[in-house]
Amino acid sequence: MFKHFRRMLSIYKGAGWHFALSQLLVALAITATLLIQTLNGQLVNQGVQAGNVDVVINTSLWMIGLAIIGAFFSIGNAVYAVIFSEETGNYLRVKTYRKAQSLSFGNIDRFRTSDLLVRLTDDITNIRTAVLYGMIIILQAPLAILITFILTWVMAPSLIWIMGVVMVVVVIVMGFLLNGVQKMFSDRQQRLDQVNSVLQENLAGVRVVKAFVREKHESRRFAAAAEELRKTSLAPAIRIAMVNPATNIIVYLATAAVLYFGGSGVMVSQTLSLGQVVVFAQYLLYIIVPMVMLAYLLPYLESGETSAGRIFQVLDAEPEVQDKPGVEPIDWERLKGGVVFEHASFGYRSEDGQMESAMVLKDINLEVEPGQTIGFLGATGSGKSTLVHLVPRFYDVVEGRVLIDGINVRDFPQSQLRQMVSLALQEAVLFSGTVRANLLVGRPEASEEEMMEASAAADAHGFITAIPERYDARVTRRGNNFSGGQRQRLSIARALVPKPRILILDDSTSAVDVGAEARIQKALRGLLGKTTTFFVAQRISTVLTADQIVLLENGRQVAVGNHTQLIATSPLYREIFESQLGKLEDLPSSVGGSRQELKAEGGPA
Ligand SMILES: Nc1ncnc2c1ncn2[C@@H]1O[C@H](COP(=O)(O)OP(=O)(O)O)[C@@H](O)[C@H]1O
Ligand SMILES: [Mg+2]
Repeated sequence: MFKHFRRMLSIYKGAGWHFALSQLLVALAITATLLIQTLNGQLVNQGVQAGNVDVVINTSLWMIGLAIIGAFFSIGNAVYAVIFSEETGNYLRVKTYRKAQSLSFGNIDRFRTSDLLVRLTDDITNIRTAVLYGMIIILQAPLAILITFILTWVMAPSLIWIMGVVMVVVVIVMGFLLNGVQKMFSDRQQRLDQVNSVLQENLAGVRVVKAFVREKHESRRFAAAAEELRKTSLAPAIRIAMVNPATNIIVYLATAAVLYFGGSGVMVSQTLSLGQVVVFAQYLLYIIVPMVMLAYLLPYLESGETSAGRIFQVLDAEPEVQDKPGVEPIDWERLKGGVVFEHASFGYRSEDGQMESAMVLKDINLEVEPGQTIGFLGATGSGKSTLVHLVPRFYDVVEGRVLIDGINVRDFPQSQLRQMVSLALQEAVLFSGTVRANLLVGRPEASEEEMMEASAAADAHGFITAIPERYDARVTRRGNNFSGGQRQRLSIARALVPKPRILILDDSTSAVDVGAEARIQKALRGLLGKTTTFFVAQRISTVLTADQIVLLENGRQVAVGNHTQLIATSPLYREIFESQLGKLEDLPSSVGGSRQELKAEGGPA
């Protein structure tokens, strides 16, 4: 029972003593409370009934003293419980975040960002609550019940049957009220997830919603999700709200029973003392309250258990791509930037981690010399991004090999690979901060000149220096204060700053106008020199001058060659070319030089 939860308590060894201390304090607090009740009996029997003022005063003072000490123990327990639960939450949060950072692209595909977010927030909150309540109540309640039961047995054995009946009644009533509440809670959590995802999607896409005048429709969709949430929240809330009045009714009835049976014991059969009855009435409370608290706690513990399981899913995830044990960096002298694909095939895994049956890349064979430029053309979904992601080993090929300078990418430390290969990803995401901080992400020690040189080559220096703060200009969240084309140019500059051996630009100029694209190409050629460059493009104009052009269709390379060769040999290439740049016959003979005047744009469908 509570497998994940127990594992979670033991995972955080550093604060284990907080837990131990809090439980010790709980035991002391209970002992003090029960001692007070025992003294209470003494006070009635030997003080009040016997008319002994000294006993009354002495016993009262002892009781006050014990009450104060007991209160301190309780406070101490609560404080340590809070400290422990907060530290556990924080520890798990940091550990989970670090783990999420260490995962490979493949793992992250399957967890999804929103899912990881929920795990890092809601699930950790659930665990914290469960730990907190658990620590305050979990030992306290059974201990209190046990001690009280034993004391009753000793003090007033003739009334113990009332206690037995009360305990059975509490179990039945609480079982009726709270059984299934955990299930309702988790249903509610699922609804909440749905509401959150509708909310997230719509708020993120609020511009699209407005552009298509879908506000009313989306509001209705959200109201429906919210209504479902309200309905599923209602049932458990009512059950929980009934716990208190039900407990009160049990207490009143039990007290009435004690007065009836205890009173006749004192006055009729004289088998009981008044003190015994008073103490017993108190003990009854000490049985009922912890039992109710336990019942109340169980759903929280259960949802903490579920959440702990979800956290462990992340913590236990093995990064799909891992360094070989004991792998050593390759001598940089050896690395020139030649890339070879040998019968490489690749397929993404499905959500449960199984291999997808359909291969996204099939039997790719390429040989790229150091310093060459290679362009990739193909419809969206043809596998261009996937192919270039195999070079820095974001994913491992399923069949075949990818080699850099004759060495399998699996034989490099990942850190060296990523140093050697620099990418401008298809989606140009910037971090909030300054332009400079964004540009230097890959190589913080780069000089000011190197940074500006890279920006100039990416045609970004111009618009950066047009901002008054220049390189200290603020970048807001995800770079939203820059246009799509500007973000792309910053992202290219960011990839250039580390001076990589291999540069990959994945559709990085799709939002840049044709003129700027030509400027970037020209500047890159000057700057790159010996850098091997992979260009992924929708526009054929981007790859015209490449040493090799690869045409991808449904994950297969259907044609490889330079522009002249492909025009001669590949009907598909001709078709793409003509659809974008016009009929071949109408063009001047040197296509490369005239492409700036061509205004046709856009990609194959
Ligand atoms: N992370 C992913 N998980 C699962 N399938 C993916 C993932 N990324 C891409 N795909 C699928 O792989 C195929 C190739 O995608 P991609 O390489 O992005 O194509 P391109 O860059 O040419 O548009 C598509 O069918 C796409 O749906
Ligand atoms: Mg792509």
